Amino acid sequence: MIIRREQAGDRPEIHALLEAVFPTLMEAKLVRELFAARQYLPLLSLVAEGDRGEILGYVITTRAWIGEAQSLGLGPLAVLPQYQKQGVGSALMNASIEAANAMGERTMVLLGHAEYFPRFGFVPADSLGIVSPDQSWGSHFMGLPLANYEPGSHGVFRYADPFNSL
Ligand SMILES: CC(C)(COP(=O)(O)OP(=O)(O)OC[C@H]1O[C@@H](n2cnc3c(N)ncnc32)[C@H](O)[C@@H]1OP(=O)(O)O)[C@@H](O)C(=O)NCCC(=O)NCCS
Repeated sequence: MIIRREQAGDRPEIHALLEAVFPTLMEAKLVRELFAARQYLPLLSLVAEGDRGEILGYVITTRAWIGEAQSLGLGPLAVLPQYQKQGVGSALMNASIEAANAMGERTMVLLGHAEYFPRFGFVPADSLGIVSPDQSWGSHFMGLPLANYEPGSHGVFRYADPFNSL
């Protein structure tokens, strides 16, 4: 398996993967809109490719903000059911974090399983001063201080535009 950047020709397979992994079409629609959004970051749209060239997993991270400061919002992250629990999700997460570090980014934020993401260093977002736009997200709303993290960028988190129309 390799982790590599998404290429334009991958998109039909990515959409099929998202439709297979999630119970509704919401995530597939969201990713389609993120591809067209100003907040799309090509360096942070990553696929896990299997030995036969098939796409096993996908993750996208897009521009976001904490108050006026730039941040990153990770998600969706998806691995085909038959390839889960084999390290594909971890490889996609680690590659996303390394790429964001190399880009000089400061924080990465996500909404996800509170039992899964702490293994990558994510902590409750409010412990970093990142205010959730939706209090019902609770402990599922997490942040990661990246290599270039500087304390002090407190404020309300705002995802890329397409998240607002979910
Ligand atoms: C969550 C997901 C991306 C993990 O990918 P993966 O390739 O199975 O993950 P890895 O193989 O790297 O890690 C497996 C570990 O994560 C754990 N894990 C997987 N899903 C989990 C969940 N929902 N909650 C808690 N732990 C979870 C497994 O139990 C396993 O634990 P172990 O290492 O202690 O054995 C994958 O299960 C998936 O696509 N799920 C459906 C979509 C989804 O929920 N996406 C995340 C929210 S955006």
